[in-house]
Amino acid sequence: MEQPESHEAAATADGVNRRRLLAGVGGLLAAGGAASLLASPAAADPSTRPDRDGRVEALLGKMTLEEKLGQLQLVGTETAARAALATGQLGGVFSVVGAAKLNALQHIAVEQTRLRIPLIFGLDVIHGYTTNFPIPLAQGASFDPAVAATDATVAAKEARRSGIHWTYAPMMDVTHEPRWGRIAEGYGEDPHLASRMAVAKVRGYQGDDYSSPDRLAACAKHFVAYGGAEGGRDYNTVDVSLQRLHNLYLPPFKASVEAGVATVMASFNTISGVPAHGNGYVLHDVLKGAYGFRGFVVSDYTGVEELILHGLAGDGADAAAAALPAGVDMEMVSTNYVRYGRRLLAEHRITRDQIDDAVRRILLVKVKLGLFEHPYVDESGEVKAPSPAALAASRQAAGRCMVLLKNDGPVLPLAKSVRSVAVVGPLGAATYDLNGTWAGLGTGAWTTPPVTVADGIKAAAPGATVTFTAGCTVDGTDTSGFAAAQQAARAADVTVVVVGETAAMSGEAAARSNIDLPGVQQQLVAATKETGKPFVVVLVNGRPLTIPYLHDNAPAVLEAWAPGVQGGHAIADVLFGVVNPGGKLPVSFPRAVGQIPIYYNHENTGRPADPANKYTSKYLDLESGPLYEFGHGLSYTTFRVDGLRLSATRMPARGGRIQVSAQVTNTGGRAGDEVVQLYLRDPVASIVQPVRRLRGFERVTLAAGASETVSFTLTPEDVGFYDNAARFRVEPGEIEVYVGTSSAATLTARFTVT
Ligand code: NOJ
Repeated sequence: MEQPESHEAAATADGVNRRRLLAGVGGLLAAGGAASLLASPAAADPSTRPDRDGRVEALLGKMTLEEKLGQLQLVGTETAARAALATGQLGGVFSVVGAAKLNALQHIAVEQTRLRIPLIFGLDVIHGYTTNFPIPLAQGASFDPAVAATDATVAAKEARRSGIHWTYAPMMDVTHEPRWGRIAEGYGEDPHLASRMAVAKVRGYQGDDYSSPDRLAACAKHFVAYGGAEGGRDYNTVDVSLQRLHNLYLPPFKASVEAGVATVMASFNTISGVPAHGNGYVLHDVLKGAYGFRGFVVSDYTGVEELILHGLAGDGADAAAAALPAGVDMEMVSTNYVRYGRRLLAEHRITRDQIDDAVRRILLVKVKLGLFEHPYVDESGEVKAPSPAALAASRQAAGRCMVLLKNDGPVLPLAKSVRSVAVVGPLGAATYDLNGTWAGLGTGAWTTPPVTVADGIKAAAPGATVTFTAGCTVDGTDTSGFAAAQQAARAADVTVVVVGETAAMSGEAAARSNIDLPGVQQQLVAATKETGKPFVVVLVNGRPLTIPYLHDNAPAVLEAWAPGVQGGHAIADVLFGVVNPGGKLPVSFPRAVGQIPIYYNHENTGRPADPANKYTSKYLDLESGPLYEFGHGLSYTTFRVDGLRLSATRMPARGGRIQVSAQVTNTGGRAGDEVVQLYLRDPVASIVQPVRRLRGFERVTLAAGASETVSFTLTPEDVGFYDNAARFRVEPGEIEVYVGTSSAATLTARFTVT
């Protein structure tokens, strides 16, 4: 048996590695950025406890180099796990489900390896384990962090009781790219909204103590700027300025670290020439340095090995020598750390300190999970199907996520006394497509399929005749079913056309170059319109779509996203007005794909779009601005926001504080929800600022005629920004405040930062 590693014997290759890391973008950025960031106070990890650290150190002191390297290995199949356990070199397993299977693997780790260190079991529990909630993008549309918290709480309980310890969520990649399929997994285009939702989700998964049998360790992903993929093509290059990296992409991660997130996953993209998996600036300097992150960083699937194809590493040893010092602690699927760790140490390309730091971080999360006390799960408690309470929570969440884009007439809500409804469109009887991407166990043999829209409508209007006619497939070209669809529409009082995307059309590796309704679905809507009968369109999709045709031709459009396991019921709740829609768009809807990127928090340019002036920033062949702006969403009632008040007209740059309040009144005839949104603009700054930035929102429920005062507290943190040396600046000058019901809010006031 090899002797335990000596801590004193640490090699001195660190300087070499740091120099190498700081080459390219890291070096460029580190010149001013890292220094200034590192000077800022590190976030305190609320769960720091000396007894836990002592335990980790004691264990570390007993470990051989091979055992240490083994802790850095994560594999994704049972076969790979058994093979790695046979050599005693395995830290964790992911994507294996089933309490008995997981216990069997754990028995080997705990009973047959020298130090009996338990395995950590991970899974992509993204928006549900057995109970699928709406996709995260939809949850962003709720503008209600409680929705994300509920999803995470329900999922954590189901998954942990089934033997999973660790989820690869929340995904918090801010993006301006609707072509990118992974937009479905995050919260859209705004860093403030994404931060609030991500923090709620981290807290929902982890609670105060993730050793609890109902909690999971969370994973903030993908670190970082993955949403900047050029052309929206998954895994693609990202070239980003330091100020944009810190102002746009990093805030949700910073907020999640402050909320105590247990782990972080590196992203597949490069960041200005240096792949995230080898990027010491973002992982080592920012995340572990400036933010004070004490958990561990896991690679993404073969992300370490991919440094070779990226062109940062010549071979696997090179890849490990880049990733470990950069800050990737655990290697997922590829095996370069265990393979080459000993050699790289001998060659002084990695250090003992770097290995120890990675092992320490992983062991600390295992300790915090309580795995040393409770390595096994009680198989009798395994959750194989959603409980009635979980289904009810999912249905309620889905209702809160829907966005009423348009409602002329108004056609919606439908009368419960309606005598006949024709459900038309390929997604009207869809089941698993309603779960969207990353459906947990939601497409497995264990789960109940989601409720279809047709069944939801039947249940909501039991007295009505409800028919279903697909008309076409989601992406086919065959229009021969249109005649039957038209016949059904003619025979019914009202038609609900359900169109959009299949689950596989968004999510990972699901970029689309054209984000129109796929196939002949738009023609199906046109054919329905031709009947002259009333109709509404329900969209089921994982990204913004280019739908000017629907806007111009459909009387009502309801954005239902991928609503989850209770999707059909939740859609019917909204169609019949049992739930008054109150969701808002977390992302702009472009008019045409050629407008992308189009986002509300853009810079002004020196020539803002002006239809009367050719020499301004616009397209010759398209109206400027989005089809539907960020924050847009209608209700079956109406609201007024007025009475904007500021508690002061001056905010000292140090320690200042201003209270902004406004009154929101339900001016219509039924109870409903409004999301009061607060935006800021700094019109003159040393780095030009976005025309608007969301800095506060609150979703309120008001009875008809009722009013409420909504207040937001602004501090210098809200008016400041990061510059191109990654320094946070609060500059003196005027700040414009906008409060209203979307990013087009017009109610305004101003104050001065002094
Ligand atoms: C690749 C994906 O990018 C990541 O989000 C996921 O967590 C891992 N695969 C594990 O399944």
